Amino acid sequence: MPPFHTPPISPMAIAFDAENLTLSPAGPTLTRRMSDLEGLFLDTDAWAAAVHGDDPVVYTVTSSPVPEIDRELPQSITTIMPGHTSGELWMTKGHQHPDHQGEIYLALKGRGGLLMFDGERTEWLDMLPGTIGYIPPGWAHRSVNTGDEPYAFLAVYPGGAGHDYGWVLEHGMGSRAYRATDGVDLRPYSAPDPASDTASAPAATPFAD
Ligand SMILES: [Fe+2]
Repeated sequence: MPPFHTPPISPMAIAFDAENLTLSPAGPTLTRRMSDLEGLFLDTDAWAAAVHGDDPVVYTVTSSPVPEIDRELPQSITTIMPGHTSGELWMTKGHQHPDHQGEIYLALKGRGGLLMFDGERTEWLDMLPGTIGYIPPGWAHRSVNTGDEPYAFLAVYPGGAGHDYGWVLEHGMGSRAYRATDGVDLRPYSAPDPASDTASAPAATPFAD
């Protein structure tokens, strides 16, 4: 047995249903509501109003049982609902890998975008079903729904890379994505407005979003 073997994970087949957006056997599923996205949208008042309203689900992440540990290669399907907050398209929290390692996203359904930021440069990839978006090491990444239907993608990522959400809160993502008649309007990043209202948000949980 090689020294990196990590019991009890064994070779396994995972049924991937790109139509129903499921992985089987399934691991944990994460649900991100508007209240989980504090400090991300520019219009803080609009964000707080949504939280105090029906606190909508913005996206879900369902995973396979492969654990997020070093040398493993977990997979997950993220589904982002269509919507916007004062024109800013609904999106994932975005994260940087503390251990800089690459990752791939495969678009499955709907229309979306992959926003990446290395601290200086910003890149945007249009994501349509069949597109593989490659995230090089050292690039923070966020997904955005640019369409009128749910946008879903498969992620395959190094299990030991980790997820640093605070990096995005501190540095932003270089751009903000707004809805436009022809897809997306990318505007230069600016920090969120000071809140005139507050809403509690639960503690962040490590996950691939
Ligand atoms: Fe990642």
